[in-house]
Amino acid sequence: MADALEVLKSDPDARILAGGTDLLLEFERGDSTAPATVVDVTSIEDFRTIRDEETHWRLAGGVTHNQIVRHDEIRATALPLAQACLEIGSPQLRNRATIAGNVATASPANDTISALMVLGATIEIASLDDDGGVALERIPIREFFTGFRKTALGPEQMISAILVPKLSNTHRGLWVKLGLRKAQAISVVHAGIVIELRDGKVASASLAMGSVAPTVVMLDAINGLVGTAIDEETIRQVAREVAAAISPISDGRATADYRSASVVTLIERSLRTLRDDAQSSMWPDAPPTLSTEDQLVAAIPTASVFDAETVVSVSVNGTTVDADRPTKTLLDWVRDQGLTGMKEGCAEGECGACTMLLDGAAIMSCLVTTAQADGREVSTVEGLDHPIQQAFVSDFAVQCGFCIPGFLMSGARLIEECPDPSDEQIELGLSGNLCRCTGYYPIIQAVRDAAVEIRGSND
Ligand SMILES: Cc1cc2nc3c(=O)[nH]c(=O)nc-3n(C[C@H](O)[C@H](O)[C@H](O)COP(=O)(O)OP(=O)(O)OC[C@H]3O[C@@H](n4cnc5c(N)ncnc54)[C@H](O)[C@@H]3O)c2cc1C
Ligand code: FES
Ligand code: FES
Repeated sequence: MADALEVLKSDPDARILAGGTDLLLEFERGDSTAPATVVDVTSIEDFRTIRDEETHWRLAGGVTHNQIVRHDEIRATALPLAQACLEIGSPQLRNRATIAGNVATASPANDTISALMVLGATIEIASLDDDGGVALERIPIREFFTGFRKTALGPEQMISAILVPKLSNTHRGLWVKLGLRKAQAISVVHAGIVIELRDGKVASASLAMGSVAPTVVMLDAINGLVGTAIDEETIRQVAREVAAAISPISDGRATADYRSASVVTLIERSLRTLRDDAQSSMWPDAPPTLSTEDQLVAAIPTASVFDAETVVSVSVNGTTVDADRPTKTLLDWVRDQGLTGMKEGCAEGECGACTMLLDGAAIMSCLVTTAQADGREVSTVEGLDHPIQQAFVSDFAVQCGFCIPGFLMSGARLIEECPDPSDEQIELGLSGNLCRCTGYYPIIQAVRDAAVEIRGSND
């Protein structure tokens, strides 16, 4: 960490790279110019560690969304955070994207922020001290955001951890999102709610909402619940007061009126769920991550400096490939090696046509730099030999074929994780892959059939 902070101090233009799912897109879209130096912090020792510290969870700065999705104890004690992590993009994206990256980007639409705010999380910030060591300070997340996409973080600082208090058994909490589709959707509105109940009445309540103001905001209007048993009249009244307390804008995702109207319904439904203590039932049964915990925490052991001429060594489908240009995306680099099976549909992490496995975890290879794959194993569709390929043909799950390599990679990885997948697991597992011409029914059928065939051959 001291090395990373040293680079940030010596080069004020350097940018931190974690999962890259915001940063690489920022460069790709030209929202900002790629600086000369990008510091990959994911190789910092213990940067993917989740620690139980009795009253709270300590999530190191490199913890990914799927690490939280896989963590049953965090779900049991900090459900709003787990729910927010599960709603970020798609499984491939969640295998790379970090919670600290979500917080540092500081968009009011970023989902984990309302969850962390309502749970009362604290951000741990690291900087270099005068002796070249690492100095840590803590700031409540409710004070961390200073304006639209602005934070209290200085250019020479980084988020080293996020501390998330556990909910006690007198607390109930949930997190909800309204998007334009069920996956890969930036929030129209998102909200985290936590209440404390004593003797059947609400002793305290907090609400954080996103996509309704320049930053995610805490709203006092929820205090109308305090002292009540959350009866139906209170629910309706509080929901109206919350809607009156926000002044959302109209943008490409929704009009201000739509947002205000949706908030009423969203809050009413959430409060009924909390009243009925039914929030845990919102969690799907064993959502697939297209990865294992080991694959998620795998990190490059040593720090290296890469430039355009550096030769990287990547095992592609079991064969070691040495080539330069590690600053390219992994997708472009692999295609330059003549392996053109994986496609570029969007180059923005949206379509899944570029889905590869990196150390066995599914990723969007258009949002990973090749330097981040140095010394690792990459699997592409050229290396796939799996019953799912024949199932796609037999079930007529292919038309133009452009999306299919990505579906095959996700589908095969899904069956490895869920040998007898439910329809919900198939839908969640394939939610990062878009098809514009075949339609999804034959694709889902092909995954079911391939899973049946594999189970049959294992009997
Ligand atoms: C297709 C797609 C769908 C998406 N869907 C969602 C969604 O549904 N909900 C949502 O909230 N977001 C979504 N995102 C945005 C993004 O995936 C998340 O914000 C993600 O958590 C960012 O984490 P990262 O590790 O990829 O960050 P990076 O891209 O690596 O970094 C993001 C920013 O944070 C800084 N940074 C990273 N780590 C640190 C650190 N430790 N300390 C200080 N600064 C740091 C970087 O310098 C950069 O400015 C989506 C993105 C894509 C491409
Ligand atoms: S997700 Fe990578 S090309 Fe579309
Ligand atoms: S088969 Fe054409 S986009 Fe899916």
